[in-house]
Amino acid sequence: MKVQNRTFIISGGASGLGKGSALELVQAGGYVALLDRVDPEVGQAVEKELGSSAKFFHCDVLDTESIAKAVQGAVDWASKTGKPLGGVIPAAGVNLPAAILNSKGQTVSLEDVDFVIGVNVRGTIDLVRQSAVHLAKVEPEGPDGERGVVILVSSSSAYDGQYGQVVYGATKGAVASMALPMARDLARYGIRVVAIAPNLFVTGMSSLMSEKAWKSISQTFLFPNRAGNPPEFSMLVKHIIENPMLNGTVIRLDGGSRLAKI
Ligand SMILES: NC(=O)c1ccc[n+]([C@@H]2O[C@H](COP(=O)([O-])OP(=O)(O)OC[C@H]3O[C@@H](n4cnc5c(N)ncnc54)[C@H](O)[C@@H]3O)[C@@H](O)[C@H]2O)c1
Repeated sequence: MKVQNRTFIISGGASGLGKGSALELVQAGGYVALLDRVDPEVGQAVEKELGSSAKFFHCDVLDTESIAKAVQGAVDWASKTGKPLGGVIPAAGVNLPAAILNSKGQTVSLEDVDFVIGVNVRGTIDLVRQSAVHLAKVEPEGPDGERGVVILVSSSSAYDGQYGQVVYGATKGAVASMALPMARDLARYGIRVVAIAPNLFVTGMSSLMSEKAWKSISQTFLFPNRAGNPPEFSMLVKHIIENPMLNGTVIRLDGGSRLAKI
C-alpha cells in the first residue's frame, strides 16, 4: 500500500518510536493522527514540529471512550483532508519493571499488573478494534484491493524477558501472539497485520532504564554494537506498509541481540 495521501493513526505518537514513525510517514507524503495521553501543549508542539500533515488527538488508550473520540476525530480529519485511512500503529506502551518476588520478598503490585496489561494489551486491541471499523470501509487500493495495515509493537522481551519483566514480557508476548489471528480476522477486509519486536531503542521509555540495565542490554547486540534509533524502526514501518507480502508475522528488529538475564 502507498504511504502517500493516506492517513495513519499512531498511538504513542508524541514520543519515541511512535513519533519516529509519524515523521517517516509524513516525509513519505502520508498523514498522521497522533494519539497520545501527553499534555495537549506537548502533543500540539509535536503536531507543529511535523507540519500540516500531522494532527494531535488527546487520547488515553486505557479509556475506551477516549479512543472512540480520538479515532472519530482522526476519521473526520481524514475526510476533511481527503486522505483516507491507511492503517493504525498502536505504539503506546508502558513498562513498570518488577520481579514477581524480589530480593526483599516483595511481590509485584496487582495495580501495576493491571496498568501495564491495560495499556499494552487491552489498549492495543481496543485501538485496533475501533480503527478497523473505519479501515474496513475505505475504498480498496490497487490490484489486491488493499485497505490498510496494522503495525503492532511487541518487544525482544516477548522472547527473552529479563529479570523484572514478567508483566511487560507477558504483554509483549501477547502482542506478538495477536499478529497472526488478527491478520486472519482482517484478511477479508484487505487489511494486513505485522508486529515488530524491537530490542533496545533510544526513546523516552528506554531513558528511564537504570545504567546497569542499559549497559547489560547494549552488550548483547551483535552488530551494530549499539541500541537502535527511532529512524531505524520507522524505516521498517514504512517498508511493512509498502510490501503487501508481509502479513501475520513478527519481525525482530534487534541487531542480532538476545537479552541476557539482566
Ligand atoms: N524503546 C525501546 O527500547 C523499546 C523496545 C521494545 C519495545 N518498545 C515498545 O515501543 C513502544 C513505544 O515505546 P517508546 O520506546 O517509543 O516509548 P516512549 O515512552 O518514548 O513513547 C511511548 C508513548 O506512549 C504514550 N502512552 C503511554 N501510555 C499511554 C496511554 N495510556 N494512552 C496513550 N498514550 C500513551 C506516552 O505518552 C509516550 O508518548 C512501546 O509499546 C514499547 O513497549 C520500546
